[in-house]
Order: sequence, then C-alpha cells, then structure tokens
Amino acid sequence: MLLRHDGRSLVVYAPAKINLFLEILSKRSDGYHELVTLMVSVGIYDTLSFREEDSTRIRLRAFDASSCRPTGLVSLSGVSAGRNNLVLRSAELLRSHVGVKRGVCVDLYKRIPVAAGLGGGSSDAAATLVALNRLWDLRLNVGELTELASQLGSDVGFFLSGASAAVCRGRGEIVEPLSLPDGLHFVIARPRSGLSTATVYENCRPSPRRHDVDDLVDSLRRGQLARAADRLHNSLQATAEKLNPHVKQIRERFSGQSLLSHMMSGSGTAYFGIGTSRRQVLRVAGRLRAANIGWVDVAQSGP
Ligand code: C5P
Repeated sequence: MLLRHDGRSLVVYAPAKINLFLEILSKRSDGYHELVTLMVSVGIYDTLSFREEDSTRIRLRAFDASSCRPTGLVSLSGVSAGRNNLVLRSAELLRSHVGVKRGVCVDLYKRIPVAAGLGGGSSDAAATLVALNRLWDLRLNVGELTELASQLGSDVGFFLSGASAAVCRGRGEIVEPLSLPDGLHFVIARPRSGLSTATVYENCRPSPRRHDVDDLVDSLRRGQLARAADRLHNSLQATAEKLNPHVKQIRERFSGQSLLSHMMSGSGTAYFGIGTSRRQVLRVAGRLRAANIGWVDVAQSGP
C-alpha cells in the first residue's frame, strides 16, 4: 500500500493479491474455514482519495478507473457504492471504535476486478483504516487496527500488514510476513462472470490429501522458479470450476500457453499464469486478449 498527500487529500494505492497456495484444513464451528494460504501482493491498484468533510457525513463515490464513469454493479470492475461497500463499513467501524463523529469524502477508482479472488475489497478496507487513522489523527496502534481489520474480513490483515508476501493461517487473519525475492511475472485474467467468496467456501470440502506450503516457500526463497511453479496449489479451484464453467474454460485457455504454471487465485474467478519474464507474460496477455475471454492484465509481485 502506498500513500501520498495531494493538497487536502490523502491518496492511497491499494494493491491486489494472488494466492500461490491455498489449502482448506477444516470447517470451523463459527462457519469459517481453517486454512493455510500464501499470498503475494501484485502491482494492480485501486486508487482511493480521502478528503475530510466539514459535516459528519461519510460519502463514497466509486468510479471505473478505465472510464472514470460511476460504476454499475454489472461491469467487470463494478463495485457497489452502497452501505455494504467495505470502504464505508471500515470508516463506520473506525468511527464507532473511537467514538468520534468525523466526516470524509472518499473517491474510489476501481481497477481490481470484483468477485475475482484478487482481494480488491479487502485491500480497499485496509487502505481506509490506514488513511482515516491519519486523516482524522486517531493514533490507533497496529494492534488495534489489526483487530478492526479482522472484523472486516479474513484477508484485510494481510493488506494492512503491508507485507509483499505472507503465509496466512487461521481463517486468514494470522499473517506471517515472508521476505521473498520480488518480481515474479504474472498474467492475470478474470472471465466475464465472478463468484461470491461465501458461495465457494459453502460448497468446498477440506482437502483429503494435505499439501505442504513449506516446499513452495523454500523454492521461492531460493529463486527456484520452476520448482516453485510445480508447487502451486488451490483447494478451492475444483469447487469454483463446478460452480462457474468460465473457470474451466479459462484454465483450458491458459493450458495452451507457454507458461511455467497457472492456477486460480483465492475463491476465483480470476486465473493467473507465471512466466519467466515480462516479455513472456505480455505475449500471453496479448493472445488471451485476442481470444476475448474477459479482463486481462500483467503484473509483478512486490510492493
Ligand atoms: O472473511 P470474509 O468476509 O472475506 O469472507 C467471506 C466469506 O467467505 C465468509 O462469510 C465465509 O463464508 C467464507 N470464508 C470461510 N473461511 C475463510 C474465509 C472466508 O468460510 N477462512
């Protein structure tokens, strides 16, 4: 997450994430799933601009960054600016936690596709906590912000940590930052329809055969990219493919490309491939765009 001041506004660049590993261990009594996941942040950003208001109103205006038009629910990067939006929920949670009545106007420029497993909403939530803590001069410490983050969503803590990579456990909120060489090259595609995280988790089953995240971490640390690519794993992918035929179609598209490996991110429907160079992923992105499969972009891991 990157922050800069722009006159009276505080501007935050909120990154997307990709899950290189996701293992479901068990279903918990609170309805969530116990998991182990390895997340890396990637250089595709939503931009959020925060400006204090004289009134006590919290206002959100959401735009599709490619067109700067207000978003509609149906567009690929569409996001609702209604009360359920995580930016509004984060601002309201922060205000009620501290007991202040301050106002803010937030302009949210969406680039990260929604319902994609790329963490856009969670990243926006973390950005809101950090920005308003500064703008309203609340002086909450990291521990307090982390506690609020876990109330907003399982992945919000990862983005709040600012780590470029982490192994996350529990329901995702226990974050162990990793120091990995940056600069993995990804091509990422999100088919024309998304999936709700809750629906994918509702339909998934804990893995019968456990995969190990340590081997993947070790390969990445040593820069052994081909070995790491062999160890990608996502136990939600089979469920997502059953729920949404676009995921299987996109997998088949990626299978025909020259990439080290490919897999679905998080609960989908976004799908990514790892290449050996920026040139290689750009070439694959061009072919996927020509096939008109949905949203396609390239990105590198790192801050
Ligand atoms: O935590 P978050 O609000 O992002 O999760 C959305 C939904 O995904 C939850 O309501 C839950 O149904 C499911 N989920 C889960 N186990 C997790 C994370 C999410 O079952 N570890």
